[in-house]
Amino acid sequence: MKRNIMVLLMVVLMVFASSAVFGAGQAEGADQPKVVGFSQCDSQQAWRWAETESVKEEAALRGYTLQYNDAQSSQANQIAAVRSFIAQGVDGILLAPQVTTGFGPVLREAKEAGIPVVLLDRKVDEDPSLFVTFIGSDFVWEGEQVGKIVLEDTNGTANIVELQGTPGADPTIERKAGFEKVVNANPGLKIILSQTGDFNRTKGKEVMEAFLKAEGKNIDVVYAHNDDMAVGAIQAIKEYGLDPGKDILVYSIDGVRDGFQAMVDGDLNALVECTPLLGPQGFDALEAAWRGEEVSKWIKSEDGIFRMEEAAALIENRKY
Ligand code: AHR
Repeated sequence: MKRNIMVLLMVVLMVFASSAVFGAGQAEGADQPKVVGFSQCDSQQAWRWAETESVKEEAALRGYTLQYNDAQSSQANQIAAVRSFIAQGVDGILLAPQVTTGFGPVLREAKEAGIPVVLLDRKVDEDPSLFVTFIGSDFVWEGEQVGKIVLEDTNGTANIVELQGTPGADPTIERKAGFEKVVNANPGLKIILSQTGDFNRTKGKEVMEAFLKAEGKNIDVVYAHNDDMAVGAIQAIKEYGLDPGKDILVYSIDGVRDGFQAMVDGDLNALVECTPLLGPQGFDALEAAWRGEEVSKWIKSEDGIFRMEEAAALIENRKY
C-alpha cells in the first residue's frame, strides 16, 4: 500500500515537472485569457504590416490578449521587448527575429521561465530546444526559383545586379545562396554588383541609383530580395530613362500588392511568393506547446511563383 502511494506520488510529480517545460507561463484561472507577446522586427513595409495584422486578427479571434512591440529594426530593442514579455509572465511569445545570431541568452531566459517561443518568418542560429518551431518559407528555394526564371528569360546570358535584404537575416543569406546555385551552374549569368538595400524601398532605390551610375545600360537584370526594394529599383530605372521590365528585367520575392501592381504595370517580370499570413499557424504552435505536444521544428509555408502575364487576373484576390 505504502509502495503504491509512493509510485502514485512520483507519477504526479513527473507529470507536473514535464508540464513545466513550456507550461508554467499559462494563466492561472481557466477563464483568464492567455497573454501572448509578439515582437516584430520592424514595420517599414507592407509585408510586415500584413504579418502583424495576421497575428493581431488571430489573437482577437481566439480571445487572447496580445502585447505587441515593434523593434524598429533594432535587435537590441527586440531583445529588450522579449525580456519585458518574460518579466510580465506572458503565456507565450511570437518572435519575428531581425537576424539569425544573438538571441541565445534571451531565448534561454524564456525557456527557464517556462514560456514557449515560436519563431515567425525568420530563423535563428541557436539550439533548437530553445524554441517551439520556426514557421516560414524555404528561402533557398525562393532564390533558386528566381534564378531559374532569370535563366529562362535571358537564355543564360545576363549581367545581374542584386539588391540584398538585411545583413545577417536568414532570408538574405539563403535567397542569395539559392540564386547563386543557378548562377554558379551557368557561366553566362554574372552578378556584377551586389549590395544591401535592407529590405527597404527607399534604400533599394538609392542602391539602384548607385548601380545605374556605375554600370548604366550594362545592367540586364535586377534581382531584389523583396518586392519593396524592387519597387524602389523600378523608380530608379525610370528616373534614369530606361524601361523596367523591358530594358532591364526585374525580379523579386514576397508577392505584396505593390509587387503585383508592378507586374500589372509591366515593370516587374516575375516574383516568387513568401507569405506573411502566419498568425493562425503561430497560435496553433503555441497551443500545441501549452498542451505539451511535440511540434515539428519547421512548419514550412507553401509559396507560389507568379509571372507578369498572369498578374492582372490575380491582383484583386491577393490577401496582402
Ligand atoms: O523574413 C521574410 C522577409 O522579411 C520578407 O521577404 C521581407 O519583405 C521581410 O522584411
